[in-house]
Amino acid sequence: MPTFPAALGLTSCQVEQVIRLAGMAPSLHNSQPWRFRIMPHLIELHADPKRRLPVADPEDRELRLACGAALFNLRLALTQAGVHPLVTLLPSLGSATALAEIRSGGHEHPRPGDVQLCEAIPRRHSHRQPFQNTPVSTEDRHELVRAVQEEHTWLHVVPPGQLGTLEGLVHRAHRVQMSDERYRAELAAWVGRGDDSSEGVPLSAAGPKPGLQDQWVNRDFTVGQTERAPGTKFESHPLLALLCSRTDDQEAELQSGQALQRLWLTATARGLAASVISQVLELPETRQEVHDLLGGHAAPQALLRIGHGTTTTAAPRREPAELLINGPAQG
Ligand SMILES: Cc1cc2nc3c(=O)[nH]c(=O)nc-3n(C[C@H](O)[C@H](O)[C@H](O)COP(=O)(O)O)c2cc1C
Repeated sequence: MPTFPAALGLTSCQVEQVIRLAGMAPSLHNSQPWRFRIMPHLIELHADPKRRLPVADPEDRELRLACGAALFNLRLALTQAGVHPLVTLLPSLGSATALAEIRSGGHEHPRPGDVQLCEAIPRRHSHRQPFQNTPVSTEDRHELVRAVQEEHTWLHVVPPGQLGTLEGLVHRAHRVQMSDERYRAELAAWVGRGDDSSEGVPLSAAGPKPGLQDQWVNRDFTVGQTERAPGTKFESHPLLALLCSRTDDQEAELQSGQALQRLWLTATARGLAASVISQVLELPETRQEVHDLLGGHAAPQALLRIGHGTTTTAAPRREPAELLINGPAQG
């Protein structure tokens, strides 16, 4: 008896591959807060409440972004396998944890662009190291903006006149979070685990220990390390971009997660690297100030730093079989 049931006209092996690719999505602290229920005619995407991060993400906004990113991978992987995915977000008859239902809309040949994005899934990693000092080209920038629009959200490329204000807010959020014992304890539980861990951020992927001299201060995943390599200096002009939604509700968060992943895979396919800088959007007061910076018309969902990277290390993932819900979903 195979662990993976066949579904949507795909074989057990194909379904396993689809779930494996979905599980390669990014998530806060690599918490991988998703689960899947497979039925012959339907795949359900659920939030995993046991993987919530109640201090950094008390409203589960980033949890839904991560699940939206997993949903985008799932859509791509289904298309790659020849299935046109029909997605219902927040199904009204679903359980409390159900975030999306995916059915087959018939056979579909993948478009060349989708093939490239699907191939980029295993190559996409968070790049927390300094970038090279080569600016992102205008053409690349247009493609990134277009990728986000395709998912019904938009990208605000932060103009030079707003960088100073945003930088100050990023530093403030970092200081506030790092002075909160509960936040530090939650973070510590997800970093510096052994090589055999299949979740959390390993030291090898942590990037340099953040310094207050850094323009875009990173989240500190370097628990236990007190120094960084001498001479570490971040690039002077990364592309800073805010992914925004029109509304600020659960559906917009799932939509933004899909857009985040289309953006990040588009960047990867074009040879660019990215990291996410979220602390500023986790504190309600600094998120409000970013909202005001945008003129009050858009809900900021994710801040990305994009540029030309060097090498990155992959963060681990759980096996697809561990992501399955067998039987009715538990709340
Ligand atoms: C909603 C969300 C917020 C994130 N915030 C940060 C962040 O503030 N700093 C950071 O370095 N990475 C951040 N990440 C990236 C995750 O840490 C990363 O995706 C995870 O560790 C898995 O690693 P990978 O992206 O290399 O696959 C975020 C990812 C998501 C989806």
